[in-house]
Amino acid sequence: MLDIIILAAGDGKRMKSSRPKVLQPVGGRPMLDHLLDAVEGLQPDRSQVVIGAGAEMVRQALAGRAVEFVTQEQRLGTGHAAMQALPKIDPQSRVLILPGDMPLIRTETLQHLLASEADLAVLSFIADDPDGYGRVVRAADGAVSAIVEHKDASREQRAIHEVNSGVMCARAGAWSDWLNRVGADNAQGEYYLTDCIGIATAAGQRVAAVVADDPEQLRGANDREQLAELEQVHQARSRRSIMAQGATLADPSSVHICGSVQCGRDVWIGPGVMLAGNITLGDDVSIGPGCVLTDCDLAAGTRLEPYCVLDGVRTIGACTIGPFARLRPGTELSSGVKIGNFVEIKNARFAPGAKASHLTYVGDAEIGERANLGAGTITCNYDGANKHRTRIGADAFVGSNTALVAPVTIGEGATIGAGSVVTHAAPKGQLTLSRARQKTVEGWQRPRKRDSNV
Ligand code: UD1
Ligand code: CA
Repeated sequence: MLDIIILAAGDGKRMKSSRPKVLQPVGGRPMLDHLLDAVEGLQPDRSQVVIGAGAEMVRQALAGRAVEFVTQEQRLGTGHAAMQALPKIDPQSRVLILPGDMPLIRTETLQHLLASEADLAVLSFIADDPDGYGRVVRAADGAVSAIVEHKDASREQRAIHEVNSGVMCARAGAWSDWLNRVGADNAQGEYYLTDCIGIATAAGQRVAAVVADDPEQLRGANDREQLAELEQVHQARSRRSIMAQGATLADPSSVHICGSVQCGRDVWIGPGVMLAGNITLGDDVSIGPGCVLTDCDLAAGTRLEPYCVLDGVRTIGACTIGPFARLRPGTELSSGVKIGNFVEIKNARFAPGAKASHLTYVGDAEIGERANLGAGTITCNYDGANKHRTRIGADAFVGSNTALVAPVTIGEGATIGAGSVVTHAAPKGQLTLSRARQKTVEGWQRPRKRDSNV
């Protein structure tokens, strides 16, 4: 039997935030969410999350996850928090306890700890900067004798670089025994989970500190600075993952990834690109500098020129977008489509070869094959109350500065004269225009300035 207890009740005062610490995001997802991914890999029999500060927010953030919640009414320390979850657990079951603020840990590292046969196994690591962590104190023979919290440590103890990651494993019955003996006579007046180490060693039980070889995974975040450090590690991991899939990053450290990215071979990603949500990039996709993509699925060969913002976009063939295009949810572009600068598209489909090269808004529309929308074409899709569709047939040509007042249909091969306001269907194959005729007033003279002396 394997039980999990995740300690997530703390307020995270050092974050100076209105949301509980464990919900602070790393890579766009709450820290706790990352931790649960690692824990799920162990296939535990039960996972309990101890909540307190912002309990409702934590419950909501974990909706749909296979976890049980236990409330710690008062935040009396990590030992007290762990005790709240023990009553439900069979005394013989092994219990892995984890702090909720360590999002980078991997399943294999936890498995490594679980392989220990000690009565109490603690995952430790060597920290370059051990400030704030509990120090692992070892006797002359190397055996672990205690964990001393930073605030309670002597000067000699503070010089120790081996620190407690906060992850520990023992049988439930043993945890209950030790925790019942933990007091709160320390610098923070809290019931420390870490006191169990000293209690167990004093009782002659086997205590092992398993030193992790990759300390980066075990870092916790108590304040914004540490959170930023975790983000850096996470970003580096995400970038390595897409490089391994076949992407070239022109300037890796400038690419920011918040979500999951699947990418093909020979993808090129320029400097300053941000990828969020679920992103799929086909072979040879090229993303120019400064682009921001959220939830996009781009077909092989799609090319984004610099500074495009795409959200909920699907390309189903190689096409060219930008620079400076804004494509919103429901945009679907086929092969050979060209979307140029200062074009906004929302909920619209472009058939193969269709073009909108400059200064255009297309919303709630179907654009036929090879249709060409001139500069300044606007679909007037909203009447102030409802949205209406615009349908443009194959090979249509819409002249510049045309307002298409939806619902409206432009027939196949139709031509719309520049500057038109189109309110009725334009028949196929013909020229339709709606604008005042040009005239010249003969003999007209410009007004002149009055003589100021008069
Ligand atoms: C803790 C450890 C420290 C270790 C470090 C690793 C203790 C006493 N100290 O310190 O040895 O090096 O983690 O990152 O265990 N929590 C509750 N209820 C409480 C108090 C805390 O649920 O009453 C939760 C917090 O939400 C957090 C976790 O326990 O997720 C750890 O608490 P935190 O305050 O971050 O402990 P640290 O000071 O970092
Ligand atoms: Ca912490």
